[in-house]
Amino acid sequence: MTRTVYVNGEYLPEDEAKISIFDRGFLFADGVYEVTSVLGGKLIDFDGHAVRLERSLSELGMGHPITKEDLLEVHRELVRLNEIDEGMIYLQITRGAAADRDFAYPPEDTPQTIVLFTQSKPGLANSPMAQKGLKVISIEDQRWGRRDIKTVQLLYPSMGKMMAKAEGCDDAWMVEEGSVTEGTSNNAYIVKGDTIITRQLSNDILHGITRAAVLRFAREAQMKVEERAFTIDEAKDADEAFVTSASTFVMPVVEIDGAPVGTGKPGSVAARLREIYLEESIKKAV
Ligand code: PDD
Repeated sequence: MTRTVYVNGEYLPEDEAKISIFDRGFLFADGVYEVTSVLGGKLIDFDGHAVRLERSLSELGMGHPITKEDLLEVHRELVRLNEIDEGMIYLQITRGAAADRDFAYPPEDTPQTIVLFTQSKPGLANSPMAQKGLKVISIEDQRWGRRDIKTVQLLYPSMGKMMAKAEGCDDAWMVEEGSVTEGTSNNAYIVKGDTIITRQLSNDILHGITRAAVLRFAREAQMKVEERAFTIDEAKDADEAFVTSASTFVMPVVEIDGAPVGTGKPGSVAARLREIYLEESIKKAV
């Protein structure tokens, strides 16, 4: 089945979709994105992603070319047209194509580019990785200073992922001034005793939509949560570690820089949070 994608108001077969070579997303990474997961043909946490998208656009002084209602409609239509049961929807909005390459932003009436496409991932909720756990390495965080904005400048996270693979690992945790910021495409957590520890929100990390939901569920389940920075040594010495994101939900981390975390097996807190997150989010899916 050929995938149907959405480009600037049109639903098209993927091989007919076109974007200008002058698009600022392509030339300057001048664009923002969101990834929303689909479970049982429904959107998980759509509202949170739509709100963060609006914030990213505002922070970069970009227009809001589509309403939340229309965006929901496009997401749903793509799920329907591509018969997605489990997977993700990728959305990208750029500042559009200027007449030429120019560092200065184009005039405000320049049409923005909106692209959405689906990624079918059967078995996403039952990923074998949740039983196995991830092995991560630590690397220096060399990204820019506004990581709270979800831009498409993902080269350094991509490099981090490749550094991890080169060492036979799955992902990298980035470290700045001695403490962990986040994973290449997820938020990072450790568990010490009965306390879940994750870095506080600031411009240093992406304000994960999954993070917000997981911390809320944890507090509702009377688990202790501490939002503060932690070091790699503290993480190696923790009882458990895990990451969260729209594409992995809650995923245990079992090894950091070659050292086992806790027993070296996925921990019970991560397993419980994964279960609660999936159960509660599926109930609220739209
Ligand atoms: N990444 N931190 C970073 C750097 C991320 O790229 C992501 C998401 C997260 C988790 O955010 P959320 O829970 O809202 O998905 C944290 C997406 C999934 C991606 O780039 O594919």
